[in-house]
Amino acid sequence: SITSITAQQRLDSRGKPTVQVQLTTPHGTFRAIVPSGASKGDYEAVELRDGDKSAFEGNGVLEACRSVTDVLGPKIIEAGLDPSKDLKKIDQLMIDTDGTPDKSKLGANAILGISMAAARAGAAARGMPLYQYLADESGTPSKDFVLPVPFMNVLNGGDHSGNPMAFQEFMIAPTHATSFAQAVQWNAETYSALKTLIQSKHGKGAIGLGDEGGFAPPIQHPHEALDLLMEAIKIAGHEGKIKIGIDPASQSFFTDGKYNMGFKTNAPDMLDAAQLGDLYRELLEKYPIVLLEDPFGQDDWSAFTEFNKDCTIELVGDDLLATNVDRVKIGEEKKACNSMLLKINQIGTITEAIGAGNEAFSAGWSVFVSHRSGETTDDFIADLTVGMRTGHLKSGAPARGERVAKYNRLMDIEDELAAKGLTFRYAGEGFRDAHKD
Ligand code: PGA
Ligand code: ZN
Repeated sequence: SITSITAQQRLDSRGKPTVQVQLTTPHGTFRAIVPSGASKGDYEAVELRDGDKSAFEGNGVLEACRSVTDVLGPKIIEAGLDPSKDLKKIDQLMIDTDGTPDKSKLGANAILGISMAAARAGAAARGMPLYQYLADESGTPSKDFVLPVPFMNVLNGGDHSGNPMAFQEFMIAPTHATSFAQAVQWNAETYSALKTLIQSKHGKGAIGLGDEGGFAPPIQHPHEALDLLMEAIKIAGHEGKIKIGIDPASQSFFTDGKYNMGFKTNAPDMLDAAQLGDLYRELLEKYPIVLLEDPFGQDDWSAFTEFNKDCTIELVGDDLLATNVDRVKIGEEKKACNSMLLKINQIGTITEAIGAGNEAFSAGWSVFVSHRSGETTDDFIADLTVGMRTGHLKSGAPARGERVAKYNRLMDIEDELAAKGLTFRYAGEGFRDAHKD
């Protein structure tokens, strides 16, 4: 059982403080560090920030660390809960102790850190890899495993960069690769071609990176971004084999009932939901796009439902659903989308994140696992993706340590499965249905 749970303030990839948890059992000390978003939705669980302006501009998380060390840790240890079989009970005890619907009293950042570390401790106690533990925990059959298609965000805009682009993420997805390692290679080659291309078109000063490791050249229209991607894919020699995903994160530019495509410039360019929908349809017609996330704002259910009516690609709800089972159920009722983005810190416990994902699966939807724009080298979500058999994930560009950590862990898992002689496959074109078979 657990002998100690402590928390420390550490840094995330944007240089902002975040919570690290260390949880000790007879099997060792298990660590987890929580991520943090920039384009956060209103329905997310709340990260506790100190608000003390004299340190880190008020962004310190010492209070959240005290929630772990002084409140939650002692309570879990006193209850004698065993991570090898009690993850659900540990998470429930934390939810009850916090007592608020959005974890704002003790902090979702405190609670999630313990939940992740407890899962790691549980896996070690059972002598199994984390992905196997999470497969068991989520009730996912694991007679064979599925390695995900890595959707890599190679062009950054929105709240993640300083360029004029309103849309936040342009992702490349090597659906025609035959292994995860090959998928990573193709994406890295395309990323490199993109760098050369941007440099030749916009100069050396244009190859700076956004928060998720993608380039952020001085372009504004989605067409320009997609043309760049298509050209880079071609130069890298992967034409027809790499598809595209877009996350406009449109809540970031939603104001007074309209979407402002010029929100990062001095020239407003307002579109209503119908006009924005037409723009998406135009892009879908012209480019090999297989995934569209948050095309409309977090409360614009009717726009989602309307767009979903004749939508043949994957339509993902991020800010719309907030990895929250209640919002997933509303989305199902309204037929608002066909996929749930899964961000563990949107809800704050592994048990609830799995629960929301399983609810989405039960409606026939897919689940798309995601990092946050503020990340760390913690690679938990790599194992979660394989454990829940989601068939795809996004963890940013094939560059910057905190992004690459997840892809490297997935290559380790692929090698490990091969070495053990276990059955596994790369999700490929069927990434939306990976969970079904
Ligand atoms: P965030 O962005 O982590 O800044 O919220 C990721 C996303 O919108 O998917
Ligand atoms: Zn998103």
